[in-house]
Amino acid sequence: MNYTEPMLREGSLKDKVFVVTGGGSGLGKAMSKYFLELGAKVVITSRNMEKLEKAKAELEEVTGGTVLPVACDIRNYEEIEAVLKATLDTFGKVDGLLNNAAGNFISPTERLSANAFDTIIDIVLKGTKNCTLVFGKHWINTKQEKSTVLNIVTTYAWTGSGYVVPSATAKAGVLAMTRSLAVEWAKYGIRFNAIAPGPFPTKGAWDRLLPGNLREKFDMKKKVPVGRVGEHQELANLAAYLMSDFSAYVNGEVITIDGGEWLKGAGQMNMLEDIPQEMWDQLEQMIRSKKRK
Ligand code: HXC
Ligand code: NAP
Repeated sequence: MNYTEPMLREGSLKDKVFVVTGGGSGLGKAMSKYFLELGAKVVITSRNMEKLEKAKAELEEVTGGTVLPVACDIRNYEEIEAVLKATLDTFGKVDGLLNNAAGNFISPTERLSANAFDTIIDIVLKGTKNCTLVFGKHWINTKQEKSTVLNIVTTYAWTGSGYVVPSATAKAGVLAMTRSLAVEWAKYGIRFNAIAPGPFPTKGAWDRLLPGNLREKFDMKKKVPVGRVGEHQELANLAAYLMSDFSAYVNGEVITIDGGEWLKGAGQMNMLEDIPQEMWDQLEQMIRSKKRK
């Protein structure tokens, strides 16, 4: 067994209906694939219907599951109401929402127009708010016994990060929303959790965060203590657990899956990683000699 393999037992998500925003590409598609393999029916959304139709065909072929593609822009509340309606019309119910869709690009903040900043906030924070409100109200109004929301954030939701300031600002808001509603809406049987992934290569993220030769210049593997980037299946394993009833007592949690990346950046003396082993005798002697004086 290793981290590239599926983790949960067959049928773990049988009869569940999940909506995955941004489910037609990248991590959203990888998580949708695993939900389907575990028996869930999945609604995938994004702005691009052609992409969604292609993803549906591919996902249904490899998993034998059922996918409903619905085009929407998560910035528009009414379009999310239409996603809910399409989900109920097709499957009769909905058990979980995975807020995965996002927008992002690197830029010095002073180069951003007001609209550029707004665009990211509107997709990431307001989009997540729109989906959460539409589906949350539905579950509350219909007195559904249990449901779950999983939000994809980033580790810079709590550290902040230069050059992706709108994204960091918006993801911090999503994190606050996750923890707030985990408490407020627990009485309605709605659980809220989040995942903060480290670097998981996808076309969407890499084209916008590491364009051109930046991906050679800033090798993401070197930032990660375990020495590699993430595999989509290991993220899917965690997401499936958090969306499943196995995690019924996990509520308001954010789970980091980054190989220790953010802590490496945070720990003040972690740069000593670069000291060759053979230098440590000499350094120890230098330190001890000072102590005697
Ligand atoms: C400066 C830019 C820009 C850039 C766009 N804008 N790109 N400004 N530098 N590189 C400005 C535009 O000029 C415009 O402002 C405003 O932003 C909106 O741009 P549009 O192209 O009209 O927006 P839209 O078509 O809605 O596209 C949204 C987008 C795009 C975010 C710009 O990249 C997109 O669709 N992204 C979706 C997928 C995505 O981003 N995936 C990556 C997620 S990765 P003006 O003032 O000119 O009107 C991720 C990783 C997190 O989140 C952590 C990793 C470690
Ligand atoms: P991605 O493939 O670009 O995923 C983003 C998805 O969001 C796309 O499917 C996109 O589809 C959709 N989307 C964007 N704007 C939308 C809008 N206005 N309305 C509806 N859908 C919209 O990138 P990814 O790497 O898989 O990212 C997935 C999630 O993981 C994001 O939340 C991201 O912040 C997070 N994350 C990724 C990494 C990483 O290393 N990859 C690390 C940390 C966090 P359309 O363009 O077709 O609409």
